[in-house]
Amino acid sequence: MSLYNGCRMQCQKLWILNFLLFAFCTDAAAHNVGNAITWNREISRIIYQRCASCHREGGTAFSLMKYTDVQPRAVAIREAVLSRTMPPWGAVKGFGDFRNDQGLSQAELELITDWVDSDTPRGNNPNALPKEPKFQKPSLFKLSKNALTVSGDFTLSREMTLDGLFPQSVPDEQSTKIVAVLPDGAIEPLLWLYEYKDSYQHPFLFREPITLPPGSIIRGVHTNAKIALLPGRKKRSSK
Ligand code: HEC
Repeated sequence: MSLYNGCRMQCQKLWILNFLLFAFCTDAAAHNVGNAITWNREISRIIYQRCASCHREGGTAFSLMKYTDVQPRAVAIREAVLSRTMPPWGAVKGFGDFRNDQGLSQAELELITDWVDSDTPRGNNPNALPKEPKFQKPSLFKLSKNALTVSGDFTLSREMTLDGLFPQSVPDEQSTKIVAVLPDGAIEPLLWLYEYKDSYQHPFLFREPITLPPGSIIRGVHTNAKIALLPGRKKRSSK
C-alpha cells in the first residue's frame, strides 16, 4: 500500500493519528469503556441468548441473569465454554446433522474467555445493558401427540419421516448410539447421545427430515431409556 511507498507526509499524518488513537485507547481501557469487553455490552447479550433459557430463576440450572450471579462463577464459566460442556448438547458432534445445535460461535467463545481473562469488567454504562429476556415457564419441550416413543430396538411397520429425536428419559451418563437399519441393510446414523442429562430437555432436530421405509429398524435405544421419534414432513424433492 501507499503507506510504505515513501510518501512522508501521509506517513507523518498517520503516525500522529495512531498516536492519538493509542492515547485514546489506553485512556478508555483504564475506564472500562471503549474497547474493553464488558458485561453490560457484550457478555450479558451472549448469556441471555445462549445460557439464560436454562440459567435463570425457575430454570433448570442456577441463574446467570445478573452480573452478581456471573462474576463469582467467571472461571467456571470460562472452563465450561472452552471445554464446550456449556451450552450442553449431550451428543457426539458429527453423528447425525442437526439444525438446533446450540454451540457457541468462535467469536462468542473468545469474547467470554477474553472477558474473564481481563477480570470481568462490568462496564460503567448501565444503559448498554439489554433487558432481561422473558421465558415462558416451564420452557420444557412439548412432545407432539403423534410422536412415537421407543425403548429397545424398534421396527417401523409403516414409512415414517423423522424430524428429529427427543430423549424423554435416559439414565445419566448413558451413551447411546442410535441408527436406523434400512431394509436393504444400509445404516442411517441418527443420534449418538453422550453425557446427555434429562435436565437438558432438548430435542435433536435434523437439518433435513429423514424418511425411513417400512421395515426399518431403529437400533441402539437401551431398554431402560425412552426416546421419542418426532414425525416430520417428507421432503418434496426426495425420490
Ligand atoms: C439447556 C440448558 C443449559 C444451557 C443452555 C446452558 N446450561 Fe449451563 N448448566 C445447565 C445445567 C442443567 C447445569 C447443572 C450441571 C449439569 O447438570 O451439568 C449447568 C451447569 C453449568 C455450570 C457449572 C458447571 C460445573 O463445572 O459444575 C456452568 C459454569 C455453566 N452451566 C455455564 C453455562 C454457560 C456460560 C452457558 C451459556 C454459554 C450455559 N451454561 C448454558 C444447563 C444449561
